[in-house]
Amino acid sequence: MIRLDKFLCTMEAGSRSQVKEFIKKGQVTVNGQVCRQLDAKIREECDRVVCQGRELFYEPFVYYMLNKPAGVVSATKDKREKTVLDLLEAVPGKGIFPVGRLDKDTEGLLLLTNDGRLSHELLSPVKHVPKTYQVETALPITQDMKAILERGVDIGDARPTQPALVRLKEDCKMELTITEGRFHQVKRMLKAVGNEVIYLKRLSMGTLCLDRKLAPGEYRRLTHDEVEILRKG
Ligand code: URA
Repeated sequence: MIRLDKFLCTMEAGSRSQVKEFIKKGQVTVNGQVCRQLDAKIREECDRVVCQGRELFYEPFVYYMLNKPAGVVSATKDKREKTVLDLLEAVPGKGIFPVGRLDKDTEGLLLLTNDGRLSHELLSPVKHVPKTYQVETALPITQDMKAILERGVDIGDARPTQPALVRLKEDCKMELTITEGRFHQVKRMLKAVGNEVIYLKRLSMGTLCLDRKLAPGEYRRLTHDEVEILRKG
């Protein structure tokens, strides 16, 4: 059960002050009856709530795409550092966490959700979900380096990396698609071929592409279709 005002905020019917106004003005009905009580208890799964003529369907999970800026850590809490959750502080939804990690200095697509199952699907090593990064390097990316990255690189782990896809953009710029999520993987791959990453940004994860309208630090909710396609993989 959840308070009516909280339910409306969670369903993004309006801001806290707006939903209070809607309730006070009699613009909200619960099971067909006008309800002016802010703290009326709603059974999310079965009560029919209509706000300003629009029925609100309860969705237990929320999904956000963040264009992570450099300088924040991919954690829910940190004693010293600003976290990606600090950037999302006003969003509704309980228990949101980042799906995987980007390094503090890495920018780009980060999915945040409270859907543990989807997160598990996307991160599971056996699923090999592709992730594409924009990579800028200190030295030109040679054909030899490209070939090694594409074949699989020894980065000091038990196994070399899975074959990657390299799309050269400029001498020191490429798009790199990898299907694993090892610790500092892209940086270690470039180091192993004698180069160095100087800028890293994630552009996509599975079917989800970073919305180019989002400036670093900005976020938006995923559309229903984006969630469905992501689930289907
Ligand atoms: N690979 C890295 O080295 N860093 C990231 O943040 C993501 C992939």
